[in-house]
Amino acid sequence: MQRPDLLERLAVQTAERTQARLQRRLRTVDAYDGPYLESNGRRLLAFCSNDYLGLAQDPRLIAALKQAADETGVGSGSAHLICGHRRQHAALEEALAEWTGRERALLFSTGYMANLGVMQALLKRGELCVQDKLNHACLLDGAQLAGAVLKRYPHADVAAAARQLCSETDDSALLATDGVFSMDGDIAPLRELASLCASEYACLMVDDAHGLGVLGHDGAGSVAEDGLTEQDVPVLMATLGKALGCSGAFVAGSTTLIDGLTQFARSYIYTTAMPPALAAAALCAVTLARSEHWRREKLNASIRRFRHGAAQLGLPLMPSRTAIQPLMLGDAQRALDASCTLEAQGLLAVAIRPPTVPQGQARLRITLSAAHEEAHIDQLLEALASLRLETFPAGAPV
Ligand SMILES: Cc1ncc(COP(=O)(O)O)c(C=O)c1O
Repeated sequence: MQRPDLLERLAVQTAERTQARLQRRLRTVDAYDGPYLESNGRRLLAFCSNDYLGLAQDPRLIAALKQAADETGVGSGSAHLICGHRRQHAALEEALAEWTGRERALLFSTGYMANLGVMQALLKRGELCVQDKLNHACLLDGAQLAGAVLKRYPHADVAAAARQLCSETDDSALLATDGVFSMDGDIAPLRELASLCASEYACLMVDDAHGLGVLGHDGAGSVAEDGLTEQDVPVLMATLGKALGCSGAFVAGSTTLIDGLTQFARSYIYTTAMPPALAAAALCAVTLARSEHWRREKLNASIRRFRHGAAQLGLPLMPSRTAIQPLMLGDAQRALDASCTLEAQGLLAVAIRPPTVPQGQARLRITLSAAHEEAHIDQLLEALASLRLETFPAGAPV
């Protein structure tokens, strides 16, 4: 008997992806300085980071991290439920619950793990999980790992979501959606989804990785902006690695939810707790994100300036009022060429290609941040104008 060799098969798949010119490329960054980064000896003005509020390098976060590291050391030493849960974690969970208007919050090491943990704790094999087609990969993976019946409705189509929910009414059901869609930047129809879930007795879960810090009066996110309570959205997940400039994630909700996750979410139970110093830095980030309104105001001014300039240039910008401002280019090679041309001019905006986005919907995922100044936005617009993107036949509606 001869088994097919797994590594050989992987090599063939990698070669095929390379041949299709869809291979992913790793870039090493040597230094960050505000919106600039240094890579391969070049200084580039970056429009691809998720550090939407410009907090990742804030000296107060760095000081909080250093001070906590001096007190607690580096690693947490074990999982939360053994002896890794430090007072820095507890304080951060309390602050996150208060900010999001939820009873409790529970930390996870990454957003990916948080979503896997929630799905696996809530759903039993064969139960229904309805999701937006453009949800982040880890929500989709989470449902599959839980053995749920995954049904994906066309993007933001509440009527289609209703049909999918109504197709199976006997079992429990979870409807999960991104709050802000990571590759498109638009916001889910959260109010409509919440009333659908209420009328269909389904549980609504929102992944607000890209909304927290950016949307809502004090940055509490897309769910808060829509005035949705814990009853409307019983499961709220968000990350600490984007607008908060740190790393990690949390789930917020009722005591029933958090107690249950503590018992049954395997990606919470069987892993080392995040470093306590990181929790201390994230707590500092929460305080700043809530109180420094100027960060959101500056970000929003940049978004307006960019969209106004892009409209004047006739650029194929997607409809978005968040920090994610994708330029739809359609063809993967076109997106790659545009990204390379920008890089030659000292700007970094990465091309997002299939399979991360659907075929024919390759794009430049441009992200804006409170770290950008007006002159940076103008520089980006000037560079985009030189690409003559309006002459590109976009492969999808813009
Ligand atoms: C919507 C969404 N959810 C979850 C994640 C995963 O979060 P993390 O990077 O903390 O694993 C991301 C991005 O990374 C995301 O965009």
